[in-house]
Amino acid sequence: MRAVPFAMTLMIVGCAGGPLLAADAENGRTLAERWCVGCHVVSDQQSKGTDIAPSFASIAERTDFNEEKLAFFLLEPHPKMPSMALSRIEAKNLSAFIAEQKRP
Ligand code: HEC
Repeated sequence: MRAVPFAMTLMIVGCAGGPLLAADAENGRTLAERWCVGCHVVSDQQSKGTDIAPSFASIAERTDFNEEKLAFFLLEPHPKMPSMALSRIEAKNLSAFIAEQKRP
């Protein structure tokens, strides 16, 4: 069979980027464990954190929490946080990871 299945083609097109790209929360976790653990409690698997920064779970619980807005926030330099020069994709993935921690 030489024909590429249609679904597969869609996947490849999706991975090439653009607005179709879905956020990848698993990648967000990896990023968070690398860049954010120093100050934030990034998941409930982390027993110790600092008091200086809100836990990701508490951020997700905020009533005004919005995954899209958070992704934009992460791209802006923030006075109390080091500038991390995240790519748009990384910012989306981190936001998706944080959004997952909202308890139902
Ligand atoms: C050097 C410590 C430090 C690191 C590293 C850090 N943060 Fe923060 N972050 C803070 C502090 C302190 C605050 C609280 C800021 C405030 O109260 O204005 C904060 C606040 C936030 C907020 C909430 C902003 C709000 O609306 O109140 C988000 C979201 C956030 N950080 C995401 C991240 C992510 C994602 C990473 C990793 C990519 C990260 N932070 C890495 C110190 C840090």
